[in-house]
Amino acid sequence: MSQDDEQTPRSEPTPVTRRTFIKGVIAGGVAVSSAAYLFRNSPLLTGRAARAGSVERLVTLSVNGQTRRVDVAPQETLANTLRYKLGLTGTKLGCDRAECGACTVLVDGVPRYACSVLTHTVRTREIQTIEGLAAADGTLHPVQQGVVEEQGFQCAYCMSGFIMAAVGFLNKNPEPTREELAHGVSGNLCRCQDYDKILTALERGAEISREVARG
Ligand code: FES
Repeated sequence: MSQDDEQTPRSEPTPVTRRTFIKGVIAGGVAVSSAAYLFRNSPLLTGRAARAGSVERLVTLSVNGQTRRVDVAPQETLANTLRYKLGLTGTKLGCDRAECGACTVLVDGVPRYACSVLTHTVRTREIQTIEGLAAADGTLHPVQQGVVEEQGFQCAYCMSGFIMAAVGFLNKNPEPTREELAHGVSGNLCRCQDYDKILTALERGAEISREVARG
């Protein structure tokens, strides 16, 4: 028997399917993205904001049901605070000027573009990000589950924004038609232009939400 034969056989790596990958991204809001590269010169990342003399103030935020104390500059956006100070990178930055919806989070249950909200203005509000949607036991929110089942996204950079927008819309309209749902998430853009599949996934999410509500 050769030395090679005596070696313990290596276990095969667990195959990562598109479905399991998407599920991981949805639940944790973490994915390899181009954001770190795109924002490599951000003052928040380089520390230039502090050097420029902008005074940060300690504020208390309520994020995903947790109280978070964080230093923020007066002009700091919620998207930057969430991503670069609280580590909640599931909130994506696309246009950074209220056009694409990638940064959508819920503020008191209402979808808002986090890139266009100053952090200090939401100190008394309840902020929910994609990381806070799943239940404590890991059970995905119905809209997340609908996306997993239908796999409605291609590159998925816009995915968390669409999910948050859909959750906010379903909060006030739990039984939308497809057209109403499309209108409800019309503030979100997909550069892959996979809107038909996205809507099918969100419709499935709405259906699961109703099933859960009926028990
Ligand atoms: Fe906020 Fe595009 S990053 S709307």
